[in-house]
Amino acid sequence: MDRIIIQGGARLEGRIPISGAKNSALKLMAAALLTDEPVTLANMPRLADSRFMGHLLAELGVSVEEGDGAELRLHAATIAATYAPYDLVRKMRATFNVLGPLLAREGHARVSLPGGCAIGARPVDLHLKALEALGAQIEVSEGYVDAKAPAGGLVGGEIDLPFASVGATEHAMLAAALARGESVIENAACEPEIADLAAMLTAMGAPVEGAGSSTIRIQGQSRLKGVRHHVVGDRIETATYALAVAATGGDCILDGAQWAHNKALWRAMIDAGVTVEPADQGVRVARNGARLQAVDIETQPYPGFPTDAQAQFMALMTLAEGTSVIRETIFENRFMHAPELTRLGADISVHGSEAVVRGVPRLRGAPVMATDLRASVSLVIAGLAAEGETVVNRVYHLDRGFERLEAKLSGCGAHIERRSD
Ligand code: EPZ
Repeated sequence: MDRIIIQGGARLEGRIPISGAKNSALKLMAAALLTDEPVTLANMPRLADSRFMGHLLAELGVSVEEGDGAELRLHAATIAATYAPYDLVRKMRATFNVLGPLLAREGHARVSLPGGCAIGARPVDLHLKALEALGAQIEVSEGYVDAKAPAGGLVGGEIDLPFASVGATEHAMLAAALARGESVIENAACEPEIADLAAMLTAMGAPVEGAGSSTIRIQGQSRLKGVRHHVVGDRIETATYALAVAATGGDCILDGAQWAHNKALWRAMIDAGVTVEPADQGVRVARNGARLQAVDIETQPYPGFPTDAQAQFMALMTLAEGTSVIRETIFENRFMHAPELTRLGADISVHGSEAVVRGVPRLRGAPVMATDLRASVSLVIAGLAAEGETVVNRVYHLDRGFERLEAKLSGCGAHIERRSD
């Protein structure tokens, strides 16, 4: 199994290119099921998760072809299967989002429940309620969701989400695009990935208004057309490299990063004493010499502090002067990086949904192991800032969501390599 070996202590300097957003790309791929015309996604991140979604789509009859550069061509001329088995859904929750498009296009679908995952229980009740509001009949048994549309297909409806779930908002949008008439989603999630999906659905012929606010209106159509769509930049990859640069006391431009998509993070980093500013085609992050200051954060739905950057921010706070309190409000079990960070010398105690991080002057390299994607990369950040060698095991977690991680980091001075033995 691959490992990442880091010799810590090198400042990151230069430019780091930001890829397309994993969490947008996976839902945009599912949207290709809504049309029998070709769909091209540009700025696609090449990741284990997007390949995995590609396998599932291919099983459903979609032709999936990698184009030049960062292009992916998808063509669902016909749907060969409306069944997504457990093996293809359990490994990655975003695959569950094929249910709505299959149901909307074919009138029925059978998709395995995704199950829980390391960071929390993650039910799909809100996804199913949203589909029911569009007229679907849903039965859940033996780990599968069987969904049926009414005789004339799904019908536009009002979907009132009790929690602004990202996945449920996207799922509702995907299904509503092929439902008859208007659908309204209240208390919708406001993440930039929602606006990205809205732009793609609008270009496919189903106008979506209000994406980025808590009320979204979709004018469903009986048929959608093909599209070429550019995937929005990855704000979590941006956050991750910004925190890595800050942790190493470096100075980098994050190329293609969107200033507006990470304002809560920028505020926290500026309070910690890091220079963060909009730059030519991206964002500049620098920390020259001064010790970091402890800052408290609480994760919240967008535009609040993103849960997907919480582990990485904790890695930075291990080196701050003072005590930082980090509250996780989105997932119930998302502090698994804390005990691993303490292996590098961090002082962290976890009490329920709160982690108290007492800053230390330095970290020392150690072998570590991680349980999820963002936790793994927080260990990479800590390893880059630590003295000596850090070995990160279970690299497959990183490969799910970070494109060319070692190349991007070594390109600006990090001593990092992958070993397979
Ligand atoms: C998306 O997950 C992202 N994943 C997550 O990124 C991200 O952490 C999360 O949004 C929040 O920003 C993808 O886009 C593929 P939610 P999602 O529905 O859609 C509860 C990463 O590391 N909930 O907003 O699953 C749920 O259990 C991943 O890239 C229900 O109770 O997030 C959770 O506590 C991890 N019932 C909370 O809502 C439901 O039906 C937020 O979940 C749906 C969700």
